[in-house]
Amino acid sequence: MAWMRTAEAAAKVTAPMSRQILVTSALPYANGSIHLGHLVEYLQTDIWARFQRLRGHQVAFLCADDTHGTAIMIRAQKEGRSPEALIAASSDEHQRDFAAFGVSFDHYGSTNSATNYEVCKGIWQALRQRGMVVEREVQRLYDPQQKTFLADRFVRGTCPRCASPDQYGDNCEKCGSTYAATELVNPRSVHSGATPELRPSKQLFVQLTPLQDFLTAWTQRSGALQPEIANYLAGHFLDKPLQDWDVSRPEPYFGFEIPDAKNQFWYVWFDAPVGYIAATAEWCKAKGDSLDRWWKNPECEVVHFLGKDITYFHTLFWPAMLHVGGYQLPKRVHIHGFLRVGGEKMSKSRGTFVTARQYLDQLDPSFLRYYYASKLGPRIDDLDIVPDEFVGKVNSDLVGRVVNLASRSARFVETTGLSATYPDDGGLFARAAAQSEAIAAAYEACDYREATRLCMVLADAANEYVEHKAPWTIKKDPGRSKELQDVCTVVLNLFRQICVYLSPVLPDLAAKTGTLLGEPITRWDQVTTPLVGRSVARFQHMMTRMEPEKLEAMFAAAKAAAEAVAPTPPPAAASTVDDGGPLLAEPLQPTIAIDDFTKLDLRIALVVAAEAVPEAKKLLKLTLSLGGTERRTVFAGIKAYYQPEQLVGRLVVMVANLAPRQMKFGLSEGMVIAAGGDGEAFLLSPDSGAKPGHRLH
Ligand code: 2FM
Ligand code: ZN
Repeated sequence: MAWMRTAEAAAKVTAPMSRQILVTSALPYANGSIHLGHLVEYLQTDIWARFQRLRGHQVAFLCADDTHGTAIMIRAQKEGRSPEALIAASSDEHQRDFAAFGVSFDHYGSTNSATNYEVCKGIWQALRQRGMVVEREVQRLYDPQQKTFLADRFVRGTCPRCASPDQYGDNCEKCGSTYAATELVNPRSVHSGATPELRPSKQLFVQLTPLQDFLTAWTQRSGALQPEIANYLAGHFLDKPLQDWDVSRPEPYFGFEIPDAKNQFWYVWFDAPVGYIAATAEWCKAKGDSLDRWWKNPECEVVHFLGKDITYFHTLFWPAMLHVGGYQLPKRVHIHGFLRVGGEKMSKSRGTFVTARQYLDQLDPSFLRYYYASKLGPRIDDLDIVPDEFVGKVNSDLVGRVVNLASRSARFVETTGLSATYPDDGGLFARAAAQSEAIAAAYEACDYREATRLCMVLADAANEYVEHKAPWTIKKDPGRSKELQDVCTVVLNLFRQICVYLSPVLPDLAAKTGTLLGEPITRWDQVTTPLVGRSVARFQHMMTRMEPEKLEAMFAAAKAAAEAVAPTPPPAAASTVDDGGPLLAEPLQPTIAIDDFTKLDLRIALVVAAEAVPEAKKLLKLTLSLGGTERRTVFAGIKAYYQPEQLVGRLVVMVANLAPRQMKFGLSEGMVIAAGGDGEAFLLSPDSGAKPGHRLH
């Protein structure tokens, strides 16, 4: 058969050598629900794992809940249950959500498992034996209200390097610096908002400088990292001696007690990545496989997918632990960007912080799988959900260009089945088969945008064929039944080829196509051989169009849920900045002592940026400079009186020591002072000559 030789030759159908691949997604915290931001990662990893399986490789796709740390402990306390009960419920919820989105983990574990403890212990002993663990007394931040030491991520404040407000206690998302939580300016506890105190605490550190050369070689020369990540590490960490890693936490802490250090616990970031190995061990045990075959075997490729915020844990600490523990290093660490919605960070108040469950209540998971895939490239760019584009891609591309191929042809061959031999299609099938390696290369490189684009080009060619042949017209002429069968045989085979190519992204559609044509889609090379002489099942709708109202309902539900749990704001202070509160002080106030007055830290500030808060009737967001690099964000209830651009460059008076206040739109770090009454407001300004930072006295 000439067509087959051509198609096979064009597709270079050589059986690729079978690879052994262990692939992971970052372990989600047991402390919260899976949301659309998480799914950027889990769906892209799943697409990659499914692609590798389809190519015939041995794949272990593993994940687990990341269960330890103070956040879980505090939440469990607040909810009046044990951390174990909390993490069990969370694991059930996460696994249900992942399954609903088609995420095909081979095993889902928990970092709070005996296996994980054993693997941690082994790595710890190896670090001890190499003399890499040292003990020092340090001052740690302590939340006096919650009575707990604070992990770095639970302290936020102003970056000590670039003065960006509201940064984590370990690194700054704006300038990328890392620092100790104690260096933050205006630190506060994420749990209670209290200003943390410094308390002494004994800490264990892992020294990383003995591995500096090793880590430099691995990050810069192994090819495991994207070039921008390798450069980032070279410029931010490896250009100076690596800092020791503070890996222990004092009681109270929900985690593993360090075997040779009483009342000290491994910091959650020590045992979290070990969860990758523990999950593999559990999976191997269940099926009689050997852990070493996956983690101590140079033939096995370990591939991690993760978000850019946790780069340095996975590219410095984790390789160090693996190396010392005698495990294989990852062959590839694929790092991706964050999710944005309509160009903005996900936000609870805007209703764009959508949980997996809120999505599933309204929409088909295949829509999101396809949309994310169509936008994911190999680099670290953020992915933006643009609602109109989302609807358009699903309805026009996926349903209109792909699924419709089957809807427009399958019914016509329900009784006859497919033609006994593959008809002349003008080379369409062979050309689509010839795309096999280009599409495979795009998947391999995590360039799903390119893979789906190539599939849409094939869909366009198939649609042109359908339009040209118009089977609905042929159907009207009983004398052309053979021609009808041939045309539909071609269309269904072209459709099936696209479904094979898209099956890592759209496993549901692939399964339905398998049922329709009587042969499950299980191998990539199914694209080279058309189906002939077989029956076609009764056609069932494969995918319905996306209703934009459902997308709106999803965002509305997310917003309503966020509003239902938003904390009640504390009573309004005079001249409150809170949206909806009184703008100015009541005219009659009790007298105060001079000592009360001197508690106020009143300072001159320069407005360096101002913008309206779209969802708030009264608020402007001001960025104020207090001289030098000190910056504050203040939400001021003056939207009705000033255009943002009028304020930029103006000097104002601010209360600089007002306790920071978490608002729906962000953290307000002070208050600007205005005078006025009903329906008017006058910001106070100093005489000329005053400079930002001057104190009032
Ligand atoms: O950042 C996070 O969500 C962490 N729970 C990821 C852990 S990944 C791995 F190291 F466990
Ligand atoms: Zn910074």
